Amino acid sequence: MNILVTGGAGYIGSLFVKEALKNNYRVVVLDNLSRGHVEALPENITLLNENLSNSKILKEKFLKLNISCIVHFAGYALVGESIEDPELYYDNNIVGTLSLLNTALDCNIKKFIFSSSCSVYGNPNLTPITEEETIKPINPYAETKAIVEKILMDYEKAYNIKFVSLRYFNAAGADFSGNLGESHNPETHLIPRVIKTALGELNFIEVFGTDYPTEDGTCVRDYIHIEDLATAHIKAIDYLQENDDSLVVNLGTGKGNSVKQIIEITSQIIGKDIPVKYSERRPGDPAILVADNTKARQKLKWQAKYNLNDIIESAYNWHKNQKY
Ligand SMILES: NC(=O)c1ccc[n+]([C@@H]2O[C@H](COP(=O)([O-])OP(=O)(O)OC[C@H]3O[C@@H](n4cnc5c(N)ncnc54)[C@H](O)[C@@H]3O)[C@@H](O)[C@H]2O)c1
Repeated sequence: MNILVTGGAGYIGSLFVKEALKNNYRVVVLDNLSRGHVEALPENITLLNENLSNSKILKEKFLKLNISCIVHFAGYALVGESIEDPELYYDNNIVGTLSLLNTALDCNIKKFIFSSSCSVYGNPNLTPITEEETIKPINPYAETKAIVEKILMDYEKAYNIKFVSLRYFNAAGADFSGNLGESHNPETHLIPRVIKTALGELNFIEVFGTDYPTEDGTCVRDYIHIEDLATAHIKAIDYLQENDDSLVVNLGTGKGNSVKQIIEITSQIIGKDIPVKYSERRPGDPAILVADNTKARQKLKWQAKYNLNDIIESAYNWHKNQKY
């Protein structure tokens, strides 16, 4: 089966490409390299270095390449940037995705897997969070994910596309080979920032808020290894092959760790003290975001394999010898 992976030169997409090739899929990558790294791609891969919305060129290519499923990672993913420049986000993540979907329909491609996010829940009412939780995004980035999900639901009804929307919790870790890992600019994610502090690349790690209603007062998140995310996408393709149905599922481990715990465990693993600066809360950070992953286990027959130690060890192994 030929699959198109958008955003395949990015952090999560590149690991998925590796996993898909291992599972004998024929993979074509669509990535304009605006935020990705060509070094993250295998040598002989077909790369369409195009924008999502370049429908004329993409239609020709999709037909020629006989694509039957799209795994859509491409998008911008920085919350702060989305607040400062919402136009960029609405344009790239919504208009771009809509254009891609319409091109797919023109080519009769009706299977679609979407990288959604737990941020669609905003400040959830209940934790762990089930898929039944109300959707109430609190920043433009999260809004783009919620709107694309809504578009997918309407397109299913009207045009009979089938989709799996995967609401990732905090993607983290690196390929265990040490060859693929996180390289965002700016890097806003906690684990790479803590590791960069341990490596002396940052002077200190800033912790925003110590008075949250959590055990140690710092925010709690559900960190999931990108290898586990990759295998969930393979299961999602299987699901679309076997069922004439669409699905929205959380992808998390179901286990939460606080910011302080991440710093402590990283310090233990690396064997170095990590300087910390405590600051006020940042607006818009929910206290706790932990997945209820029952639905993913039942419907996708998927379960996370890796724990926080695996995440931090693999990320450290990547960052100490970062290749791109
Ligand atoms: N990293 C996380 O913790 C997390 C959590 C939830 C959801 N997500 C979602 O997962 C997806 C992948 O995240 P990531 O961390 O790997 O991001 P990333 O920035 O590393 O990768 C995104 C890739 O998409 C490409 N891209 C962006 N806009 C494009 C366009 N218009 N046309 C072609 N290519 C384009 C970029 O060049 C980049 O290679 C994103 O959609 C993100 O919103 C990520």
